[in-house]
Amino acid sequence: MSPSKPPGTFRYLQWHNAPITLFTTIMKLSDQYFDRALSLIPWGTQTNAKRPIPFFNETMPKFIERGKGCRLWDMDGKEYIDFRLSLGPVTLGYCYDEVDDAVREQMQKGVLFSMASPRELELAEMIRSTVPNAEMCRFMKTGEDANLSNVRIARAYTKRDMILMSGYHGYPDWFATEDSPNNGVPEFMKEYVKVIPWGDCEEAERLVRRYGERIACIISIPYDFNEDTSGSYIRYLRTLTREHGILLVMDEVLTGFRLALGGAQEFFGVDADLASYAKAIANGYPLSTYVGKREYMQTLDRFKMTTTYAGETLSIAAAIATMKIMKREKVHEHLWAMGTLLMEHFDAMAKEIGVEGKAMGLPVASWLKFTTPDIQFNERLAYLWQRELYREGIFANLRWFICYSHKESDIHEAAEKARRALHRALECEPNERSTTVPFYH
Ligand SMILES: Cc1ncc(COP(=O)(O)O)c(C=O)c1O
Repeated sequence: MSPSKPPGTFRYLQWHNAPITLFTTIMKLSDQYFDRALSLIPWGTQTNAKRPIPFFNETMPKFIERGKGCRLWDMDGKEYIDFRLSLGPVTLGYCYDEVDDAVREQMQKGVLFSMASPRELELAEMIRSTVPNAEMCRFMKTGEDANLSNVRIARAYTKRDMILMSGYHGYPDWFATEDSPNNGVPEFMKEYVKVIPWGDCEEAERLVRRYGERIACIISIPYDFNEDTSGSYIRYLRTLTREHGILLVMDEVLTGFRLALGGAQEFFGVDADLASYAKAIANGYPLSTYVGKREYMQTLDRFKMTTTYAGETLSIAAAIATMKIMKREKVHEHLWAMGTLLMEHFDAMAKEIGVEGKAMGLPVASWLKFTTPDIQFNERLAYLWQRELYREGIFANLRWFICYSHKESDIHEAAEKARRALHRALECEPNERSTTVPFYH
């Protein structure tokens, strides 16, 4: 082909404009998609948690094309061992055959009907025999749906209008008053919702004493996936709520079916009056459930609570299959064993590499915390390490979630890659001090 006769505009640009040539050839496919997405989808993604972090631009995949087991592949074909698991829901693994087969089988019969499907009862009975205090339950689609439903029940049952909340419960107005009015939540709602910083027993008691008779429920996460793994805070809330006739709503969206089959209620030995479950129940299919003691759940007989997709059968079939596998194969023992192995690797790699650090959290969702006296160094190092983990093909964000498809060989491989990433992060740190601004502190 003659250089003076390029065949088309694109080739013309390639030919005559070297920087564009370079740009088009090295720009990853996912970056090209992300540019297009930004002009059409706010932040280029459906949920803030999946927003690409600019500092990780070079290494963090912006789109995921597919997953299998504990592995993911991005649009450019790069493979990752995944420890984020779709923000928590993938407990067994991606494209888990037995779950997907159950979904395919249900698909032959229909996705959604004008009346209840027998699968709903089947799942409800399984939940009753698995989750503590689930004398009755109903299904929804998301974690916040379940939380909103429980708060509604608590208010209707107690005929009180205020709630106290502790931890993240989703984006709906009742749970987002802290950023009001900037986020579109009316300011008057602040009067009805008070926030207890998670773990702050004194503040919980102060608010209960101040607003006592007006409080319908305290809605709280049982564990914040941080260092305090004792369960003492949720136990304290249980005692406090009982003393004052307030309902305790446990938001088990992240802890349910993960810490144990019976969630944090079972793990910490704390009874909830009402509880919400979502992630981990159906291996990634969109399903949530709100459950509780009959006395409270029966309040639903008195008012309207209706939504079209709550009985969608594919997710229900997925949940039934997921729960069967969890029970039959003692999945949680495996999650704990693999998580413990990972934590041992964290401790060992910190020691070998000579950086002060320690494995933290519970094995089902742990992390390596850097513990040098220089807090800013620790934060920078964690940040650089995360960037380098993506480069190595490890997808992990703050907490390393374990799924049933993580086998010993995956954990060893991940640890090897994590070691290399940590070496590199330590090498980078002195040169990147001024540019490393952690986003999550
Ligand atoms: C504890 C907790 N509650 C509620 C939610 C909201 O769940 P969803 O995003 O399914 O509505 C989340 C989501 O991360 C969560 O972690």
